Order: sequence, then structure tokens, then C-alpha cells
Amino acid sequence: MTRHDPHSYADLEQGKISHIDFRIQADFEAHILKIRAEYQLAELVSGSLYLDTSQIELESAHANGQALQWEFDEQDQLLGERLHLKGLANASSFTLTFATAPEARALQWLPAVQTAGGEHPFLFSQCQAIHARSVFPCQDTPSVRFTFTAEVEVPAALTAVMAAEQFEVKEQGKNKVFQFKMPQPIPSYLFAIGVGNLTFRELGPRTGVYAEPELIDAAAWEFAENEEKIVQAEKLLGPYLWGRYDLLILPPSFPYGGMENPRVTFLTPTAILGTRGQTSLITHELAHAWTGNLVTNATWEDFWLNEGWTTYAETRITEVLEGKDVADLMAVYDEQRLIEIMERIGMESPLTCLKVPSKGRDPDASFTIVPYYKGAFLIKEFEYTVGRERFNAFIRKYTSTYQFQSLTTEAFLHFLKGELPEVFEKVNIQSWIYEPGLPVKRSKPQSALYDEVQEVLVAYKVGTRPTKEQVADWHRYQILSFLQALPKQIPVEDCKYLEDVLDLKNKNDANHYAFFYAICIRSGHQDILPRVEEFLGKNGRLLYVLPIFRAMIESDWARERARRILESVRERHHQITVHVINKLLKEAGL
Ligand code: BES
Ligand code: ZN
Repeated sequence: MTRHDPHSYADLEQGKISHIDFRIQADFEAHILKIRAEYQLAELVSGSLYLDTSQIELESAHANGQALQWEFDEQDQLLGERLHLKGLANASSFTLTFATAPEARALQWLPAVQTAGGEHPFLFSQCQAIHARSVFPCQDTPSVRFTFTAEVEVPAALTAVMAAEQFEVKEQGKNKVFQFKMPQPIPSYLFAIGVGNLTFRELGPRTGVYAEPELIDAAAWEFAENEEKIVQAEKLLGPYLWGRYDLLILPPSFPYGGMENPRVTFLTPTAILGTRGQTSLITHELAHAWTGNLVTNATWEDFWLNEGWTTYAETRITEVLEGKDVADLMAVYDEQRLIEIMERIGMESPLTCLKVPSKGRDPDASFTIVPYYKGAFLIKEFEYTVGRERFNAFIRKYTSTYQFQSLTTEAFLHFLKGELPEVFEKVNIQSWIYEPGLPVKRSKPQSALYDEVQEVLVAYKVGTRPTKEQVADWHRYQILSFLQALPKQIPVEDCKYLEDVLDLKNKNDANHYAFFYAICIRSGHQDILPRVEEFLGKNGRLLYVLPIFRAMIESDWARERARRILESVRERHHQITVHVINKLLKEAGL
């Protein structure tokens, strides 16, 4: 048996799934998806086939009209249960009927109170990295791709959205059936479904947004520029091959900023700022349509290929849409964050390598931003070595050569060596990818907008607080980089002063507050705790929630309260978030 991916039981020598026809019924009372799935195989399979599952209730398995023998014959906390289908005889297809568990890791079933409208329940999936197996048995590795169709039956008051093309809706008694097809082959982690009281607004010929009616106007205004983003992204990355690019605005418990599900990015509602100030998040998810969804990391050990390339593309597109000043500012901010996080996890930690040996590691719990920023900085080194023009040509060749394929780091390096050999002479690729920390010899980002921030920081550190005039026109990323670079502890009076002078209340930006509250906690600003608790009850984005819990753990006065606060907001959060924070608290002995 050959295991190709440390996070999957699949043995690809046995054969690969190439297409699935799903029939899905969503039971909002029992929090269960009942599914019948007909699988097509890329080649005839005889004997055994191993599939990944997690908490799947299997009812029956058939091939060639005959019942198949099956068994869950291996079990692992992280990988789930291996479904062993037995005695396949030259099978080109097989059919499974099964139900998901109410606590299926990929699915979040939200009661109406946790939605914007408050009247209808909501369901959404999050399959990356290894949760698709809790929705359907599959070869849950990004190196297997399949096309699919799906019929999704939901209560008539609700709308189903999938990362696929919707082509029909039928009434069926008290229910509605939505039909979808996904003609482009996808890896399992990009399977996605959302169901709720959703309405749709067109933004442009290829773009639109799904949201609850309460949010649709604000969302449509915030993301009105998406069409232009695709135009710019295509100039850099090649033709957009997925048809439409829509957004689905999720309830606040969505644990990520965005998830690049094909054709429809799933998005945190905290991205709606009323200022279009965080549309670089959309740029990022859109860029994944090429770097990630089209050219995919072969295993989660090669995750930097997805996120590093995407972050690089995001900076390039941002440069066109928001100007070089802003792109430079963001680069300095990114570097600052990268160094801070590497220092936290330890410059020698294997988690600071780009290629991370991950056997036995939970991808959710070992998630850091290192593959994003260290990866993007490495790719910038490639660009600086050969010049932008040649590098642009390389990017186009990369996305077209490997489209709809999965790639290991080593396969990527092989391609790079063939195309741009001088990069290997000038850049210490071995060290960037396989060694921890950051190479000393590298280009350092510079930004005039950040220099302004730096001046204010230097003055603050010797006792001069910033004035309103100094910071009034600051860009969002100037505020973020200022908050990030402040000393970890400051006088409580200064916390109050800075909230006021930076006008944080009016800006109402959850990212600002995530940083600000962490500073307040470390500074012993105890009166802030009720506000922090309220914030944690309303914001589920891991990137915002985690720094606050970390600050609590590291502050004597707040330490003992962290567990109680997690318990009080637990119900409002996604299991991924609860799992990750729980792990953090346990490691801290709480
Ligand atoms: N694909 C990721 C989200 C993800 C990564 C989900 C790993 C599960 C496992 C997405 O593209 C992403 O990177 N989101 C970021 C935003 C980005 C701008 C840094 C996020 O959610 O914060
Ligand atoms: Zn990403």
C-alpha cells in the first residue's frame, strides 16, 4: 500500500475517484445531511478501496448492482475512520448511502439567533483542510480531483448555495430542491455548501453576492469592485476558468476571514466595514482561483504553495488597485507580523519552515501565517532576481502548465529550475524552504507610509503621545501596524487615550479591536473585560479571537478568567475555533 499524503488513508494505487453525483437532504431538526452518492472511478477497480471518513453513519454500499462488503477498519483521532470497501470486481462506479453526524467537523448548524435576521437557521461547511471526510466518504487529499453534480433538498424558506453552478430550483412539497454541477475537477477540500435565508445581488457580469437580506445592501456596496479585481487578476494570472465569482456572507461564527471555495468565496461578515477597507481579503480569496484551486498543493505539507503564491498575487493585484504606497505599507506590516509570529513560536521551530513535516499534526492546530508571508517573501525574491517582466511570464506559464493539477514543493522547484535557473544561484532556496526562521540575506520591504508610523512610535516610546492631527488621515494598515508595533504593555491611561485618538469606536473595525484588546489585557486594563467578552461573543474569526485569548493566558490578572470566558462564548463559535482555543488553554494548564 502506498500512502501519498500523511493526512489521508487513501491508497492512490487502488484507483481514484473522478466524479460524484450527490443527492443531499438537509435535516435542520436533526442537524444531519442524508446523502446518496454515486461515485465514478478514473479506472476500473478490483479488490479494496480505502476512503477517508469521519463520524459518517454508513447505511449501504453497492457496486454493479450488488451489495459491497465494507468495514471501518482503522481509526485515528486526527484522520478519522478508514472505510474499507471490499471485493470490488472491475468496478467503474459504486454507490454509498449515509448520513453525517450532528457534530460533523466540517458542518456548522446555527440556530436562528446566531444569524443576522434571527428567524431562520443557517448551515455552512468548511472542509479545508481535512474535514470533507465528515461530509462524505472520499479520498480526502488535495492530490485527487473530481467533478460533481448535486441535488440539495432544503426547507422551502431557505436557499442552498454551493461552490458549483446552480442550474435549477424545483419545489417539492414543503421543500425546495436546488440543482448544481461542478464541471471543473476540484480537490475534496473545496467542496462547499451553505444554506440559509439568503438573497442574491448582482455586482457585475461575472460577480455577485449572497447574503441574508439584512446585510445585502452593505455587502453589495462593500464589494462593488469585485469585477475590476477579476480583470486585474486575469492580467497577472491568466484567464479565470471558473465561470462566476460570487461571495457568500456567512454568520459571524465563520472561523476564517475567507475561504476560497470555487465560484463562491465564503466570507466573514466582519469584512463589511462600510469603507471598502478590507477588500484585499477578497483579492486574496480571488487569487486562490489560480494559486490553490487551479494549481493545488499536493499535500498539506506543501500548503505554502497555496498560501505563499496567493499572498504574493494579492500584493501584486493590490499594487495595481490601491497603489504602490499601500502595497508597500502592507508588505512592511506583513514582515512585522511574520517576525513577531516566528519569535513567538521560536525561530528554530519546524513550524517556521515553508515545507513542514506534518505526519500526526493537526493542520488546524498547527496553522500559522508563516506559509503566507514567508512564502510570499520568497516568491518576491524570485521576482527581484529575474525582473518583473520575466517573472510575469513565468507566472503565466506556471498557472497554465499545472492547471487542474496538484503539485509538491519539489515538483514546483523542479519546474522553477527549468524555467528560471539563475534563481537557484542567487536565492538560497534550500534555506528558505527547508530551514526554520528567516534568511539574513533577503530584500527588506520599505514604505514611506510606514515611516510616518515609525516616527510616531519612536516619539511614543520616549513619552510623547500621538496627536489627533498626526493620525487622523492614517490608512487602515497604518493603524494596524502602529497597534502591532506598540510595546506589549502600556499605561492603562494610554489605552484609553489611544482608543480615542485613533477613533477606534467610530471605525468599528474588528481587526483594530483584536489588536487593541490584546494590548489592553496585557496592560492590565481590567475594566475592559466586559467589552472583550462581548467582542468574543460576536466575532468568530480565529485570527481575531486567538490573540485575545493568548493575551489573557499571558496576563496574570486575566489568566484564570480565560476558561470561563471560553465557556461563556463557546456556543457562539465554530468547533474549529473552540478546538484551537481549547488546545491553547490546555497547553497553558488551564
Ligand atoms: N484558505 C484559507 C483559509 C484556510 C486555511 C482554511 C487553512 C482552513 C485551513 C484562506 O484563503 C485564507 O487564507 N484566509 C485568511 C485570510 C487571508 C487574507 C490571510 C483568513 O481567514 O484569515
Ligand atoms: Zn489563503
